[in-house]
Amino acid sequence: MSDFFRVCDEIADAVTEISEELAGTVAGAEVVGLGADGTPTKKIDRVAEDCAIEYLKASQICSLVISEEAGKVALDGEHGTVFLDPIDGTFNATRGIPFFAISIAFAVGGKVTKGYVRDIPHGESFSAEKGKGAFIGEKRIHVSKTSTLHGCAMSIYGRKFDPNRIFALGGRVRRWRLLGASALELCYVAAGRIDGFIDIRETLRVTDAAAGMLICREAGGIVTDANGEELTFPEEVSIGRTIVATNGYLHGKVIEYIR
Ligand code: IPD
Ligand code: CA
Repeated sequence: MSDFFRVCDEIADAVTEISEELAGTVAGAEVVGLGADGTPTKKIDRVAEDCAIEYLKASQICSLVISEEAGKVALDGEHGTVFLDPIDGTFNATRGIPFFAISIAFAVGGKVTKGYVRDIPHGESFSAEKGKGAFIGEKRIHVSKTSTLHGCAMSIYGRKFDPNRIFALGGRVRRWRLLGASALELCYVAAGRIDGFIDIRETLRVTDAAAGMLICREAGGIVTDANGEELTFPEEVSIGRTIVATNGYLHGKVIEYIR
């Protein structure tokens, strides 16, 4: 196991302990500041982030962390950037809905080469290294083979003021699921549990998506923006993008409805 994945496992174990104490509690949901992404920071976000950054600092695996609440934090490692979302799916975590994750991606020269997502309540770890496939634990995973909208299951998010594109697509799919933790929903596409994850609100940030995108692609999925074009993120947690992640077979069909 590379140093990166070993450190990710250690961080995820420590954040799991934090969540056992704070998830679903009033204390965990307390607003303790405003995050670098422009949204309120809850206590569970802050405690998990402080803990994860301490581990990253001690491990020296990167020279920069870009994290949802703290923004950019320079560290002592030689090179590499870590994109960190300490708790993806904060609403679920604060209400005690057992679907939230920690997401950690490693990039060199602007390219993400390693991704790790731990489903905190269930203890499943999703990981991928560029060119080496995607895994849950040690087990290789692949996207589904579903090729029709009328047979597929997808999570689809849109803005309230632009419902047409969303309902056009939502009305065609067999099962519409909104799970509330985008890093994990990308991993669910990777594992073939759902056939697509679509979010056209322009609110998805690099910290939410960097690890899950690599995991999805390494499992055979396709990930683009809502126009079917290459999806690139600036290294800024305040900037949001659209995303369409599918098993590949459905990609063109999805883009037709939402473009
Ligand atoms: C949120 C989750 C959620 C998505 C929101 C994100 P956060 O991340 O990924 O699924 O719908 O847009 O902000 O804020 O809980 O880390
Ligand atoms: Ca978060």
